[in-house]
Amino acid sequence: MIVKEIESLLKEALDSLKYECENLEVIVSNRKDLCDYQFDGLFKLAKNLHKSPLEIGKLIVDALLKQEKTKQILKKVELLPPGFINFTLNDNYINHNLELMIINEKFNITLPEKKKIVIDYGGPNIAKPLHVGHLRSAIVGESIKRILKYLGHDVTSDVHLGDYGLQIGQVIYGLKEEMITPDKITLEKLEEIYPKISGLCKENEDIKKICASITKELQDGNKEYNDYFKNIREISQRDIKRIYDYLGVSFDVWNGESDAYPFIEKLTPILIEKKLLKKSEGAKIIEVKEDTDTKEIPPLLYEKSDGAYLYGTTDLGTIYERIEKYNPDEIIYVVDKRQELHFETVFRVCKKIGYTNNTSFEFLGFGTVNGSDGKPFKTRAGNSPKLDFLFKEVKEVFLKSNEKNESMNEKDLDIIVNAILKFADLQNNREKDYIFDIAKFSEVIGKTGPYLLYTYLRIESILKKETINKESFNEQIYNKEDRDLRMKILELDNTINFAAKNKLPSTIANFLYEMCVNMNAFYEKNHINNLMDLEKKENWLLLLKLSNNVLKSMLDLLSIEIPERM
Ligand code: ARG
Repeated sequence: MIVKEIESLLKEALDSLKYECENLEVIVSNRKDLCDYQFDGLFKLAKNLHKSPLEIGKLIVDALLKQEKTKQILKKVELLPPGFINFTLNDNYINHNLELMIINEKFNITLPEKKKIVIDYGGPNIAKPLHVGHLRSAIVGESIKRILKYLGHDVTSDVHLGDYGLQIGQVIYGLKEEMITPDKITLEKLEEIYPKISGLCKENEDIKKICASITKELQDGNKEYNDYFKNIREISQRDIKRIYDYLGVSFDVWNGESDAYPFIEKLTPILIEKKLLKKSEGAKIIEVKEDTDTKEIPPLLYEKSDGAYLYGTTDLGTIYERIEKYNPDEIIYVVDKRQELHFETVFRVCKKIGYTNNTSFEFLGFGTVNGSDGKPFKTRAGNSPKLDFLFKEVKEVFLKSNEKNESMNEKDLDIIVNAILKFADLQNNREKDYIFDIAKFSEVIGKTGPYLLYTYLRIESILKKETINKESFNEQIYNKEDRDLRMKILELDNTINFAAKNKLPSTIANFLYEMCVNMNAFYEKNHINNLMDLEKKENWLLLLKLSNNVLKSMLDLLSIEIPERM
């Protein structure tokens, strides 16, 4: 990694001066007009040494310039008041690194130590329509999974269906009321019954109680209810899969809360043995408060007074199973950030059991998708934003603003709908709420999915007309736009490793947008097709080919495909 190389040069210079510095960190410059990379740790170092930053800065720069390796890597090392060291790369070194990217299947990125990771995302609830919140979990989770896999980790994805909650009792109740037998259940019926009964339960305590008792009896193995359950789950899961297929989202494991039950039975004796289960008003709870807490952390409700298990119980059972099956280094959850406290509680129980000794648990919360009124997003079609309506709406808006393209085929249109939705989401830091503005997301010029696709297709149309036989650059970098693009591509290694470490796909999305801006600026300045200078032309074609390859592979990590045309 280039920053690491500069850091090691710097380390050597510091060693020669006998200066000690922990966490020596070189960063990519945000003043590209001044330099490519920067060290801003002089102030801290100077403070420790009781000297002025400029004084030690000068000594460090001198020491750096004495090193043989500095000349190979850097064209310029400068001390900038009040206390920065600025680095500018050598053209040869830039090109050499780009060539390494060209010949390596994964663009010569640094691969971390391989880990075994279980990722829990999606989390749809059967018999309830998927909503925009589930869309977010699917998009963000899928991207994190792809990034981790790309870096070589052994990743298992689990959809963790919400299949054993109160909604099941409600739907079974509604079906029985209408005398629909399990074999007669249809998706349309489920979609109609769930809102009806869940509305009824809000008004009528008695019906609510009946539904809760059906849920409980189902969990206890009631045969009739189980026949209903099996069919409801199958029908509902089929529809969920259809939507995930449309989104290019896939899972290795299709388990649900109900699948955790056998493991809860294995976990309970462990909890008893460790004296973690406490009785409280007939229920069983696990206390997780700590003296150092600054906020109230409620206990985990393990078993209700009627013996029913809850959301936290199934999560614990699922963790038991995952640890037994995969013995993972990490289990990560991509879930709405409003569930943070729930996961905090679950993780604390895991610590008490001893699971955290070998496995780390991470909650990756995401923000809410809002409409322009600042409230959770709804489609024109109604209050419950069924994802099918949403896809249709996006398609219509895109076609309206890009009228000349109505000849596009359906498959390409679906790819574009995906790109619009996914890029709009992934460009935001996942923890932030964002406003869902389809018209803005669909524009071809702007920070949008279509802009990235358009850039790719534009460059591809140039490349198609030419043949490129070389894999190496000559010594020259021809102008500013040329150098900017080369430097941007070199940021890939840093970017993808940062994205993986912090589980932030937005880092990649933003990098790609910036790279596309550089690609377009390059293209507008440098008209390649009619160029007479063949050597220059070959170099530039090679650069564009690399850019487009990076773009395509990284779009794939955002699960964005490329259409034939748009
Ligand atoms: N089904 C849940 C919901 O819709 C999300 C599940 C998240 N994953 C988990 N292991 N709890 O809110």
